[in-house]
Amino acid sequence: MKTIRFGVSLDEDLLNQFDGMIEKQQYASRSEAIRDLIRKSLIKEEWENDEDIAGAVVLVYDHHVRQLKDKLDKYQHRHHREIISTVHCHLDEENCMEIIIVQGKSSSIKKFSDFLIGTRGVKHGQFVATTTGALIK
Ligand code: NI
Repeated sequence: MKTIRFGVSLDEDLLNQFDGMIEKQQYASRSEAIRDLIRKSLIKEEWENDEDIAGAVVLVYDHHVRQLKDKLDKYQHRHHREIISTVHCHLDEENCMEIIIVQGKSSSIKKFSDFLIGTRGVKHGQFVATTTGALIK
């Protein structure tokens, strides 16, 4: 793929702030930081346009809570076509961590993730939104 160089004009203050962020986040260069920002915007666009996306739902819950495990499993079976893989680890005597890797239309994945995270008894839930990579070069 051909690489194109282009110039960007901006205020010194803004550039200083940007350089500060680059250093904090340990980017190798301004170019790498800008490439990442562009990709981030493109991924946001995929999400807003209900494209095919990929992500991971991370849940921590107490498996002793009555019917919780059944409820989470039942809902995952209903969405089996969107689930690529699931990892379950027993963190201690009570707590489980489940990582559900998903791929599908963003609207459907969002609903799926919100339901699991919002289920009573789930102590913490987080959704990591990323891309299938198909539309990002
Ligand atoms: Ni467990």
